Order: sequence, then C-alpha cells, then structure tokens
Amino acid sequence: MREQVVPMFSTPLGIYQWDEDKTNELKEVTRQLMQKRAVEVGVDGCPVSNDLLHFWNTSGNSFLNEDHPLIEEFHQFLSESYIDFTQDVYQWKLTKEHIIPECWVNVTRKGGWQYKHSHSNSFVSGTFYLNFPPGCTGLTFTHFSKEKTAPYLSPEPAKPNQFNTETLTMQPNEGILFLWSSNLTHETEILTDDVRRVSISMNFVPKVIDTGVYRLSFS
Ligand SMILES: [Fe+2]
Repeated sequence: MREQVVPMFSTPLGIYQWDEDKTNELKEVTRQLMQKRAVEVGVDGCPVSNDLLHFWNTSGNSFLNEDHPLIEEFHQFLSESYIDFTQDVYQWKLTKEHIIPECWVNVTRKGGWQYKHSHSNSFVSGTFYLNFPPGCTGLTFTHFSKEKTAPYLSPEPAKPNQFNTETLTMQPNEGILFLWSSNLTHETEILTDDVRRVSISMNFVPKVIDTGVYRLSFS
C-alpha cells in the first residue's frame, strides 16, 4: 500500500497582477511610445519571425528609461514583485537590492512565434502582458529533464499531471506578470489567429550575491 508521494524539486512560476486601470493606461502610453520610437529609432526585428517585433531590445536600451510617471510606477510594481518572488517564494538568502538591466516590448501578430530559449545573462526573468485578446498563444515552459542530451525512455501520459508532464503552457490575462528563474527554457507557439499580443519582458539581477565563500556585485 502506498503511504505517501513526495513532490521533489518543484519549480515556481510567480504570477503577479497589476492594477487594471494602470494596465489600460500603460497600453496607450506604450502604443504612443512605440510609434514614436519606430519613427525615430526603428523597430528591432526578430531573426526567426517577421511577425514578432521588438522595441528597446538592443544593448544599452530599456523601456524603463522612458521618462513617464506611469512607467516609474510600473518599474515599482516589477521591483516589488521580484522582491516577493526571491524573498518570500524562493526564500533565497539574498539582498533585496537589484537592477533591471533589460526591459523591452514584444509585439506578436498573426504568424509570429518565439523559439525555445533561456536568458543566460540574467537571474530572474519576467513577462508582463499588456494586450492578450482571445486566440493568443501563451508562454510554454519546458522541464529541465527535457534538456538531456543522452537518450532516455519516455512513455506518453495517460492523464497529464505534475509528475509526467514536461511542458506547461500558461495563458495569462492582461495585467499579469510572470516571473521565473532565468535558466528555465520557454517559447511561444505560432500565433494562428489574426490578433495582436503585446508584452513587456525584462531581466532582473541582484546587486550582490554573497554566499559567504564568494561575492559578486553588479551595477
Ligand atoms: Fe524569453
């Protein structure tokens, strides 16, 4: 007779909700800023899909550097969420001080997709959803076990559960921020409906990592 099943090595996805009115206001602010940037600077393309457009996605640029009070409030929301995720969810022995070195906007239209990748230049990564109408594709994460290079045997699940599933697709609402450990691989499948998804992605790095054996600081 089975006495117990113990889940081992769980992986958290932090889900945070921003204020609805502010989210709607940020949609309009971002739309205007993107239009201005497209004219003055241009659009950052995507090497794999002509239907996935990026803004502020080049080295040294950040959406958070735009001078607008609402973006300052958004920055505050991101920071509070990161602190909760690292201090209360992960409970890492870690300073609350951090930086967000990159923050960029993604616009996906019909036919757009994003290949499987992880953010090797970062500690915690996130995506906030500004526009997510019905028909949009969500964010798909892949379990570490799928990254093995050696062959292994893998049966099909009779009924998907947390022990037999190696991918998870999350469908956010508008105003939702996902946070995850930056080493997790993720992707978005091709958008087949004629809708437009707009999201804001970012990377977080603690200002200091001090294990007692080594100390690393970022600025
Ligand atoms: Fe990503």
